[in-house]
Amino acid sequence: MSIDRIRNFCIIAHIDHGKSTLADRFLELTGTVEKRKMREQFLDQMELEREKGITIKMQPVRMLYTRTDADKERTGTEIVDGGGLLYEDITYKIRGVVFNVRKQIGLGHKESVYQNALALEFAKRGIKFEKEKRLDVLYDGKKVGIYQPDFLVEDKVIVEIKALSFVGKIEEKQVWHYLKGTPFKLALLVNFSPRGADIERIINLPLQSVSVQSVPGPSKSVYTLNLIDTPGHVDFTYEVSRALAAVEGAILLVDGTQGIQAQTVANLALAKKEGLVIIPAINKIDLPTCRVDETTDEMKTMLGCEPEDIFLVSGKTGEGVEELLKAVIEKIPPPKTSYQLPVTNNQLPVTSNQLLRALVFDSQFDIYKGVVAHIRIFGGEMQAGDKLRLIKTSAVFEALEVGEFRPALVKTEKLTHGMIGYVASGLKEAEQIRVGDTITTGIGSLYTGIRSLAGYAEPKPVVFASVYPEEADDYERFREALKKLKLNDAALFFEPESSEALGRGFRMGFLGMLHLEITGERLLREYALSLVFSTPSVSYRIKTRSGGEELVYSAARFPENQKVFEIQEPWAKVSIITSEKHLGAVMNLLKEARAKHVSTDYLGHGRVEIVEESPLKEIIVDFYDRLKGVTEGYGSMSYEIIGYRPADLVKVDIFIAGDLHSEFSQIVPKDRAYEEGRRLTVKLKELMPPALFPIAIQAGIGSDIIARETVPALKKDVTGYLYGGDRTRKMKLWKKQQRGKKRLKERGTGSVDIPADVFIKMLKK
Ligand code: GTP
Repeated sequence: MSIDRIRNFCIIAHIDHGKSTLADRFLELTGTVEKRKMREQFLDQMELEREKGITIKMQPVRMLYTRTDADKERTGTEIVDGGGLLYEDITYKIRGVVFNVRKQIGLGHKESVYQNALALEFAKRGIKFEKEKRLDVLYDGKKVGIYQPDFLVEDKVIVEIKALSFVGKIEEKQVWHYLKGTPFKLALLVNFSPRGADIERIINLPLQSVSVQSVPGPSKSVYTLNLIDTPGHVDFTYEVSRALAAVEGAILLVDGTQGIQAQTVANLALAKKEGLVIIPAINKIDLPTCRVDETTDEMKTMLGCEPEDIFLVSGKTGEGVEELLKAVIEKIPPPKTSYQLPVTNNQLPVTSNQLLRALVFDSQFDIYKGVVAHIRIFGGEMQAGDKLRLIKTSAVFEALEVGEFRPALVKTEKLTHGMIGYVASGLKEAEQIRVGDTITTGIGSLYTGIRSLAGYAEPKPVVFASVYPEEADDYERFREALKKLKLNDAALFFEPESSEALGRGFRMGFLGMLHLEITGERLLREYALSLVFSTPSVSYRIKTRSGGEELVYSAARFPENQKVFEIQEPWAKVSIITSEKHLGAVMNLLKEARAKHVSTDYLGHGRVEIVEESPLKEIIVDFYDRLKGVTEGYGSMSYEIIGYRPADLVKVDIFIAGDLHSEFSQIVPKDRAYEEGRRLTVKLKELMPPALFPIAIQAGIGSDIIARETVPALKKDVTGYLYGGDRTRKMKLWKKQQRGKKRLKERGTGSVDIPADVFIKMLKK
C-alpha cells in the first residue's frame, strides 16, 4: 500500500454527540463489517460501554474505501485558483436551503413539491434565483435547442432536483450533457431520496474536462482509512491526546440539537495542538430539533470554522456520511514520508523513516499474546520475530505477531511507515508498555540514540478512594481482580490499606469520577465483587515544619496539624458552557466550590461560556450532577488540572468513646471545619446503634474538640417480666443494670461496637 493512499484520522466530539454511531456508518459504507453482523456502537466492545452508551476504551479500525476517478472529478480536481472549490459560497448557501427544506417538509414528496419549497426558501434568504429559466443549448456556437433547469442560482449555479430512491450514472450524465451545452460551469444534482437529501456536484471546466462519462470504466484507487474512535469524557483526555498524536486529521463532530459543548472546545484545542487538519461536521440533522444555522454560527464564532467547510450529516440515517468520508480522503493529508531525524548522536547516515519508531496509543491484554500494543508507525517497519524495545520503560521483547484492526485483530506480514496496527509483545504487565511510549529496535541495535516521540506522560490518578469488600472473605478475590484490571488499564492505581472495622482493602487512584465509577462497575459485573467506596478525595502536597515534602492521598495518613508547614491542593481550570438564563445559578455553584472567576464569554444565541479556577476537590464528587441539575441538563463542563496551590486546610478527626477512628478523618477548608465536624458527628449519631451506656461522638482538630454528640444509652426493660407492683424487686434489677453499664464503660472502647454498616454509610458521604 503506497503511503499516499493511507489516511489516519479520529473523530472528536463532546460526549454523546454521535462518534460511535458515525463510526458504525463508516464501517457499513466501507464494507468493513457485514451489514448482518452490524450492531449499534460496533467499536464499543465492552458490554459496559454499550449499556452506558459511552466509549471508554477506543478501538481502532482499518477500513478500505474504493474511490473512482469519477469521484475525484466531481469533488477533488475542481480546486480553483484560490485553493477552494468552485463557487463554494453559493454551494454552501444552496446546501443550507436544501437541508432546511428537507427538515421542514420531510421526505417522500414529488419533485415539484421540493421545487416550490426551495423557491420559497431561496426567496426568504434573499438568494437570487430563476426558476426554469430558458437557456439556449449551443453546438459549435449555434443554438440547437432549449434547456430549462429547475433553478439557476446567482446567475452561476444550475440546480436540478430529483426525488428518486437513488441517483445513478444516467442522471449524472444527463445533467452533465445539459451543462456542457450552456456557458455554466457548475450544476448541483439534488436528490431527495428516502434516505435524505444528497447533493452531487457536476462540473464542466474546459481544462479538466470533468465529464462523468469521459472515463470509460473509471479507474479505481483503494484507500486505507484508519479510524480511531476516541473517548469523549474528560477523564480520558490523555488517551484522546495520544490518539490524536497517532493521526493526521480529525472529524470534529457537533450534535446540532445541542450545539457546541465544553468538551467540543477542549478536544478541538487538543487536536489543534497536534497540528491536525480538522473537518467540522454537524450531526443529527435528521432530527427536527437540529439547529443547523445556529450551530453553524457557533462553530464559526467559537471554533473559527468556515461555514462552507462544515459537513451536515446524520450518523443515524447515513445522510451526508459518504460525502464526509470522501472529504477525509480529500482534506486529510497522507502520513509524511519522513520525520525529523530522531537520532541524538547522529553518527549514522540513515534517513529518519528507516528507523523504527512506533507510538503506543493504547494497549490491551490477551492471555496468550500478553500485552498487545496499539501502535502508529512513524518510521521503519516491524514484523514478527523483531527484537524490540520501549524507550521510556526500557522493556524489551520479541514481537510475537503484528497485524491490523479490521476491527478484530488480523495478523499481517509486517507494518510499515505510516500504518496503524498492533504488535503482540508476550509481556505480562501493562506497566511495561504504557500509552505514549515509543517502540523501537531492540538492544544490540546500532541505533541506541533514538529519541522517543513527544508527549509521553505517566498516567496520573487524581481522584482517590478507599475501597473495601463488603464481605471480608472476598479480599483475595478483590486483589486478584485488581491485578487483572491493571493489565488492561495502566492508569489504575492501588495499594493495600486496612481498617479495624472493614478489614483489608485498597486505597485506589483514578483518572476521574467516571473512571472510578466504571472500575467499580467492572469489579461488580466481571468479578461479582460488592465493594464499599469511600467519598473520593484528591492528593495533597504537604510541606512539613522539618523541611520535608510528601504527597498524601488519604486523610488517615495526614501528619498531625502541628507538624504541617504548608498544605497544597490540586487546582483545575473549569470551563462551563450553559445558557444565559442559568448563568446566575451556575455562578452560585462555582462560588460554593471556592472557584475564582477568569472569564465570561457571551457566545450568541443565548449561550455563554464561563471559565473559572477551582480546587479540584470541589468539582470531582458531585459537581457535575449539580451542574446538570441547575441547568436543566444543558450545562456542560470540562476541566484541566493546572497545578498545586497553597490551601488553608485542616484535618478533622472523629473520636468515638474517646477513641480516634481515622477512617472517618476528613481534610476540609479551615473555615468549614466546624460545619463539617458537626455534620459528621450528627450523622454518626444517627447511624450508631445505641449501647447499654451513652456513647460520646466527638470531632476534633488535633486535641481541640469542635463538635460533640451523644448516642443515648439503650433502656432495656429488665423488669418487663415482672408484673404487678413489686417495686423493690424492680429497683433491685435497675440497680444491677446500672452496675453492668458502669462495668461496660470501664472496659472502654473495645466494647463500643461499630458495625461495618456504619462505616459504609459514613464513607459514602
Ligand atoms: P461517547 O462515546 O459516549 O462519547 O458517545 P458518542 O459520541 O460515541 O455518541 P453515540 O454514537 O453513542 O450517540 C449518542 C446517542 O445519539 C445515541 O443514542 C445515538 O443513537 C444517538 N445518535 C447518534 N447520531 C445520531 C443521529 O445522527 N441522529 C439521531 N437522531 N440520533 C443520533
